[in-house]
Amino acid sequence: MLSRTIPFFLAIISPAACWDPLGHQTVGFLAQKYFTTQANETISSLIGLNSEFDIGDAAAWADTVRDKDGLPWSKNWHFINPKGDDPATNTCKLSYPSDCPGANNDNCIISQILNQTSIVLNFSLPLPERRQSTMFLLHFFGDLHQPMHTSGYKYGGNLVRPVCWGRQPPCTEYINDTVPYERNLHATWDSAIPRKLRGLEPRTGVEETKRAAIAWAEDLWRDERDARGSRDQDADQDFEVDVYGARTIIGYAEESNRLVCSSALSKGVEWVLSNDLSLGYYEENKEVVKAQVTKAGRRLAGWMNVLAAELGRMQGMEKESKGNNNNNNKWGDL
Ligand SMILES: *[C@@H]1O[C@H](CO)[C@@H](O)[C@H](O)[C@H]1NC(C)=O
Ligand SMILES: *[C@@H]1O[C@H](CO)[C@@H](O)[C@H](O)[C@H]1NC(C)=O
Ligand SMILES: *[C@@H]1O[C@H](CO)[C@@H](O)[C@H](O)[C@H]1NC(C)=O
Ligand SMILES: *[C@@H]1O[C@H](CO)[C@@H](O)[C@H](O)[C@H]1NC(C)=O
Repeated sequence: MLSRTIPFFLAIISPAACWDPLGHQTVGFLAQKYFTTQANETISSLIGLNSEFDIGDAAAWADTVRDKDGLPWSKNWHFINPKGDDPATNTCKLSYPSDCPGANNDNCIISQILNQTSIVLNFSLPLPERRQSTMFLLHFFGDLHQPMHTSGYKYGGNLVRPVCWGRQPPCTEYINDTVPYERNLHATWDSAIPRKLRGLEPRTGVEETKRAAIAWAEDLWRDERDARGSRDQDADQDFEVDVYGARTIIGYAEESNRLVCSSALSKGVEWVLSNDLSLGYYEENKEVVKAQVTKAGRRLAGWMNVLAAELGRMQGMEKESKGNNNNNNKWGDL
């Protein structure tokens, strides 16, 4: 177990920012707006948030450690590639746990959300490990809501390429990093649609990306609050939050997976490969991206709020069992 835990700050410094942090940071900032005070405090002190490393950074962190210099075994934790999935014939389906590879079916995003949750909830594990797991959770909720992260079709759409973005077909394959960077269907959903939605260039500096994420979270939060105004029910009651079972996360994953058939590949693979996706395709799918990012933020908050309440409850029990005159709280403040 200890071999899986690397010193916290080493992991943070690892640069490799090859994946777009915009969506992940937005999900982090948005979730923070829905945190209870208890969750806000618990998560902030678990991770050690401060002005140099905020919740946006924490939510994007997992993508900086997926290569060989970081935590390479976590590479497959960011997605699930269901075997029977064939959106080309309008078949989108996901079976858990059988679609999750690994000896204990633990090498996919669904299992790892559950596993990382159990680590955060386990006071007997070292704090650096629980801190790392908290950051994995912030990240995986974002990935889970990106439909292509739940699709088995051509490795989550990574091999649906080259697709055209801002150019007319036929489009060429990847040339090098300085020429219009490689477009595949996966990257279109990870990056191209969100960036166009926010008026951002394909590549932006660290600070510009961060500012964009903060602004996007603010807008989504306001939109969602205004939309909810007339409804008396919280919109997301279809999925009851159970941090000890799989059904909540399976529900989110199945919903995301279905969007591959109903949106991402609804026009068929040939169409996707022979049209400029920055035009009509973008217009048709931008609301899906907005809705999924909003859900990811709200559901992440829902999950973390329950988790923080559980931690508080367990700490309360421990204090009670020790009596009033015992100052020796072995769990510290978390
Ligand atoms: C939540 O935590 C952040 C970071 O520590 C802090 O800036 C913010 O004021 C907190 N929000 C609430 C509502 O407590
Ligand atoms: C899941 O979590 C447990 C600790 O609760 C850990 O021992 C185990 O290695 C984890 N499995 C994976 C695949 O991460
Ligand atoms: C907490 O972690 C320890 C060490 O890995 C493990 O033995 C124990 O079963 C875990 N507790 C729970 C409730 O998962
Ligand atoms: C990338 O490809 C373009 C077009 O072939 C070329 O002009 C440019 O020098 C290349 N850049 C690098 C860094 O190889």
